[in-house]
Amino acid sequence: MHTYGTARINKEGHLEIGGMDVVSLAEHYGTPLYIYDVALIRQRARAFKQTFEQLGVTAQVAYASKAFSAIGMVQLANQEGLSLDVVSAGELYTAMKAGFPAERIHFHGNNKSREELIMALEQQIGCVVVDNFYELELLEALCNDRGEQMNILLRVTPGIEAHTHDYILTGQEDSKFGFDLNNGQAEEALKKALEMKRVKLLGLHCHIGSQIFETTGFTLAADKVIQKLADWKNRFQFEAKVLNLGGGFGIRYTEEDKPLEPAKYVEEIIKEVQLKTTELNLAMPEIWIEPGRSLVGDAGVTLYSIGSEKDVPEVRKYLAIDGGMNDNIRPALYNAKYEAVLANRVNDPVEETVSIAGKCCESGDMLIWDLPLPKAKPGDLLAVFCTGAYGYSMANNYNRIPRPPVIFVENNQAELVIRRESYDDLVKLDLPLNVTVKQ
Ligand code: LLP
Repeated sequence: MHTYGTARINKEGHLEIGGMDVVSLAEHYGTPLYIYDVALIRQRARAFKQTFEQLGVTAQVAYASKAFSAIGMVQLANQEGLSLDVVSAGELYTAMKAGFPAERIHFHGNNKSREELIMALEQQIGCVVVDNFYELELLEALCNDRGEQMNILLRVTPGIEAHTHDYILTGQEDSKFGFDLNNGQAEEALKKALEMKRVKLLGLHCHIGSQIFETTGFTLAADKVIQKLADWKNRFQFEAKVLNLGGGFGIRYTEEDKPLEPAKYVEEIIKEVQLKTTELNLAMPEIWIEPGRSLVGDAGVTLYSIGSEKDVPEVRKYLAIDGGMNDNIRPALYNAKYEAVLANRVNDPVEETVSIAGKCCESGDMLIWDLPLPKAKPGDLLAVFCTGAYGYSMANNYNRIPRPPVIFVENNQAELVIRRESYDDLVKLDLPLNVTVKQ
């Protein structure tokens, strides 16, 4: 078993996280159950912040809350002094309910609505990351109507292809996000923003993709953006106070993944920015980053109970669990791979290779193919590692299956941060039919 954070095997041969035996957690909270190792999240957050401190760079480390947004999680981010990246009014609302300081909230998105921008203004958030011309003009007009100002960054696409899954490439030219740096759009946006009275341009933002293992993509993107900033300083006397380099630092899901320590990415990127800005005679900007997955991904484990099995002789053995694509859509959507253990018998010898099926009415609802396991029986517990990012946040109610609860564990204690959905929750938005049919 690869060990993440505080996960270990206890005397009973059970998986233990944050000092809590997951077998007892399953008895108490039921399964499926998402478990977060809070100490590991804190460790990652501190490592990011320390890297900036050690290099003497003013920074904001913003947690990309799309990875897992919940009041408790946002409060944890606040405890660690992180900033917060939100991409919708819903994520912003969650942050407000959590009491997160508005001035450290950054609002993203390629199609923010008028209502969302008004909410950002009402809450006086720290910064709107403007994605397109429509938004730039709408925001200036709204600020004008209200007699207010708003800090902005312009999101630019530097034309860098990161080595990652096609669906999550965003830095290349053919992307729905941001102003293109190569074809003059970014410069046009800059000129417009500089002429505007209400929006205050702090700098630029770029994000090249997600689950990236190499630093080259980040440093190339930083180089291109800084080169452009040098040009803009000469021609428009614009000097960026802030350079936001996004998130995307890869993590280990299986032994095929060979990431750097998350903070190591940052170290290499900052060094490049320092080098390049010195070379081009620019003041070092504040650096903002937006890690999501690398803060919470490997801190999350999902615990399931094993139920039925189906043996297709000479072909494959399916073991079904009580969750699946409802609580983790990533295998179905991205062909994502995970590792798992029998959490109540971690030390038992591996006896067979099985494939883990979810319980949804969909052949594609397969969580893990070809997993080596001890012989499992109904009621055994399966712990799937690394489900902390884009698990709960992409969970759904297909087949009207309630979403599992989320607990935080730390220092031998467990705390419920999202309760299990009830059947009443599932029908609470439904309205009975009023129209009757004449017989
Ligand atoms: N900043 C921006 C502007 C982003 O678009 C994203 C992710 C992040 C930061 C955080 O990236 P991270 O550090 O988590 O890689 N659902 C997909 C991932 C989509 C990522 C979208 N944007 C998945 O499950 O792999």
